[in-house]
Amino acid sequence: MSEKNPIRIERFGPEIIEGAPSSRTNDFNIAISRGFHERAQEAEGLAVLAQIHVADGSEFTAVYDDDVVVPSWHAGKPVATYAAYPGTLNLGGKELLPAHQITAVTVSPTHRRRGILRSVITEDLQAAQANGLPVAILTASEATIYGRFGFGAVTERASFALTTARGANQRGPVTGNVIAVDPAELEIWAPELFAAAHAKTLGSVSHSRFDIGNSTGIWEEFDSLTPIKNLRAALHLDARGEVDGFITYEFSGWKAKTPALSIGQLSALNGAARRELIGYLAAHDLIEEITGRGPVDDVLRSALVNPRDYKVTRVGDHLWMRILDVPAVLGARSYTNDGKISLGVRDDLSLVNGVWELSVENSVPQVRRAPADKSVDATLDVRDLATLVMGMRTATHLEQAGLLNAHHGQALEILDLLFSTTATPYCQADF
Ligand SMILES: CC(C)(COP(=O)(O)OP(=O)(O)OC[C@H]1O[C@@H](n2cnc3c(N)ncnc32)[C@H](O)[C@@H]1OP(=O)(O)O)[C@@H](O)C(=O)NCCC(=O)NCCS
Repeated sequence: MSEKNPIRIERFGPEIIEGAPSSRTNDFNIAISRGFHERAQEAEGLAVLAQIHVADGSEFTAVYDDDVVVPSWHAGKPVATYAAYPGTLNLGGKELLPAHQITAVTVSPTHRRRGILRSVITEDLQAAQANGLPVAILTASEATIYGRFGFGAVTERASFALTTARGANQRGPVTGNVIAVDPAELEIWAPELFAAAHAKTLGSVSHSRFDIGNSTGIWEEFDSLTPIKNLRAALHLDARGEVDGFITYEFSGWKAKTPALSIGQLSALNGAARRELIGYLAAHDLIEEITGRGPVDDVLRSALVNPRDYKVTRVGDHLWMRILDVPAVLGARSYTNDGKISLGVRDDLSLVNGVWELSVENSVPQVRRAPADKSVDATLDVRDLATLVMGMRTATHLEQAGLLNAHHGQALEILDLLFSTTATPYCQADF
């Protein structure tokens, strides 16, 4: 006699019935808050949360343990959560790449390390691949979790503190103009500017409904969804008067040791917009420090008369990518050099393992599975292929780190030329 598995998985979209979320939708969202040790929402917040998930097109995966009985909180409620929604990723090519965005991954402490995440994510990645999605993407709470599932880090992000005691003078000329606006104005500007910056930025991920509400100040955090009390906003206008960036920021309060402005959202279509928006904050009287986040090669730091006023306070991995379709991914980036290479790809989940041949002629890539008799030029794990393809690290760097085997003398040179990028990948979105 076989025993029935008490672990049951349900997949469903966020449900709003007669204006209110269904109880399983609310239970799912409360379980996420518990998974991240956060306060659960009240009824009003849960309704907004359900609407955000509907707007983003999320699909929930809820895991139940039917053996659990009252008084356990988990009786009839999820012991694990997982959500995914459609987005796009900028890999540097002409078109944005459809991406399977994964979020809300939690397993209750009562059920941890029993293989629940492994089983849910393996099934989900297989389904995403079967549905023709070329990549899955996520941001990770810990850097040690997702590599085993084939995700590689593809962008990094820096936090900075800019000392403004002496101002934040920049060496180059000021080319535009900054105007203060009510954050509510960004309901109009933020979607347009986020989308335009996304289309121009290697490594960028499309914005979500939360990002817009966070820009206008109606939602402080995803977990609290309460208004930001003292939000300010500004737009940047280029020399022709066209809006090409926005910034939101908050004051630290007078009780803080250092009176500071902290940047919330910042979207800029070019370096001048980024520099001049932050420069505007730095020019505020009574303010001694600006804090924010940005690319690891922030143009602001290079622009400063005193670059030491800009201190990097933290650098870390940010976006992680899992390749599900090698030809689609290699075809979605741009190439400035021609060349030909065959890559042996290891993949513990067997989604894209094998030998792939990339040939670039006149900057046009062609990718196919290599014929059986083809010799392999270099071998690497699928997670490191993600890092290489995005351009976060070069092939030589990966080889030096012991993560890529070059099987002959020219392989590294060819790979470095083929995968060179003109920009450092950067993803602003949090999800
Ligand atoms: C991270 C989390 C979802 C893992 O769930 P889980 O069901 O315990 O994971 P599994 O039992 O399926 O583990 C799968 C593998 O990942 C490893 N693993 C899981 N969590 C890990 C962690 N935090 N650090 C390092 N390894 C981890 C396991 O050791 C296991 O390894 P193996 O299969 O190679 O032997 C869970 O610990 C959790 O909810 N943490 C708090 C919330 C969080 O950080 N979520 C991630 C958001 S990005």
